[in-house]
Amino acid sequence: MSEPKKLFIKTYGCQMNVYDSERMAEAMGAEGYVTTEVVEDADMVLLNTCHIREKASEKLFSDLGRLRPLKDARPDLKIGVAGCVAQAEGAEIQRRMPLVDIVVGPQAYHRLPALVRAKGPQVDTDFPPEDKFDHLPERRALRGPTAFLTVQEGCDKFCAFCVVPYTRGAEVSRPVARILSEARDLVSRGVREITLLGQNVNGYHGEGVGGAWTLGRLIRALADVDGLDRIRYMTSHPNDMDDDLIAAHGDVPQLMPYLHLPVQSGSDAVLKAMNRKHTRDQYLRLIDRFRSVRPDLLLSSDFIVGFPGESDADFFDTLDLIRQVGFGQAFTFKYSARPGTPAAEKAPVEAAVADERLQVLQTLITEQQRAGQQAMVGRDVGVLYEKSGRQPGQMVGKSDHLHAVHVDDPVGKVGELVRVRVLASGSNSLSAVRIS
Ligand code: 5AD
Ligand code: SF4
Repeated sequence: MSEPKKLFIKTYGCQMNVYDSERMAEAMGAEGYVTTEVVEDADMVLLNTCHIREKASEKLFSDLGRLRPLKDARPDLKIGVAGCVAQAEGAEIQRRMPLVDIVVGPQAYHRLPALVRAKGPQVDTDFPPEDKFDHLPERRALRGPTAFLTVQEGCDKFCAFCVVPYTRGAEVSRPVARILSEARDLVSRGVREITLLGQNVNGYHGEGVGGAWTLGRLIRALADVDGLDRIRYMTSHPNDMDDDLIAAHGDVPQLMPYLHLPVQSGSDAVLKAMNRKHTRDQYLRLIDRFRSVRPDLLLSSDFIVGFPGESDADFFDTLDLIRQVGFGQAFTFKYSARPGTPAAEKAPVEAAVADERLQVLQTLITEQQRAGQQAMVGRDVGVLYEKSGRQPGQMVGKSDHLHAVHVDDPVGKVGELVRVRVLASGSNSLSAVRIS
């Protein structure tokens, strides 16, 4: 029997890409490919790219450069570029890097097997009329008790800095029935926690019984799936929050007490220039509503510093908002001008100023993150074991609040959902002992 062909995938960027990489691996699995972690062993290398910031996109070209000796040694090695850089740059990628055989966009990757079979360079960056999810094999590439499930793609918000509406296209929601059946299938394969994904996941409006469903309604239906113990979702936009989703945080026990709600800036002037269409105050009031139904909610956000026109006073407003809210975690970015976006036309903030702001912001976020972790010490929390720890008798998993937790538990097994008592807080994780 001949050896199966091997596929090496590298994923850049967000969780949506992690999900897409799994689905592409499954699509190629149907063609007889198995995945490998060793690039030198691969018959095909697939780079699933991110275009969100300049650095993310440049990584692709340096990685392609590093693949050249492999391709020279084995010209039949297939090299594919998927994801948002593929969508944005298309055939330009092959002009710059002729070693690339296939360029495939995020809406066309169900056609990847056909592109691989075809001879000569291939480019497919269509937004085809058919739904790719209807043309993909079942989920198989699962690694443990947690899984991502994309329920919504694309974005109609057009924040002035962001390429997503151009690379991922308009907001589209998958039908309820498809999502529920994918969730049941995941649970039958041992998954106990599902994170619902979408660029604007809380703008979900998929067709269900009786018309379009909201994310809140979808979460309530998922909570009825036997064996699904934990539900999370990301990423949300403040303007798409509705009463039912907020209420779900108070009355759906499976919905974990964690919310990633990007605000980007605490300055009304910057929010306006970013085309966010909400004010600082509206964001703060929204947070109050969440906390009134779920006081222990851990909040996370995204922040951009150095957006064109951001003054010192604007930046102080951001710091002030962070102090008012108290985040358990946050992602901080220096503004990066993206070609084709409205903000890229404007004069940038001086690099040294933006660098300094980023430092200050990160310091404050780290302080809050540490304080949030410290506040967990002595508390009992749920942890879902994802793997064994480095120390003997140790298990590693995530708490309800998405803290990484190392648990002393010589009898623990991957996939167990246990209660633990938190004993200490380290720099990036908690340590705990099992109590149930
Ligand atoms: N520059 C810097 N950060 C950006 N983000 C999106 N576009 C840019 C950009 N051009 C950040 C936002 C978003 C997160 C996914 O990436 O904070 O929420
Ligand atoms: Fe980008 Fe804004 Fe859409 Fe988020 S909401 S994907 S930041 S355009």
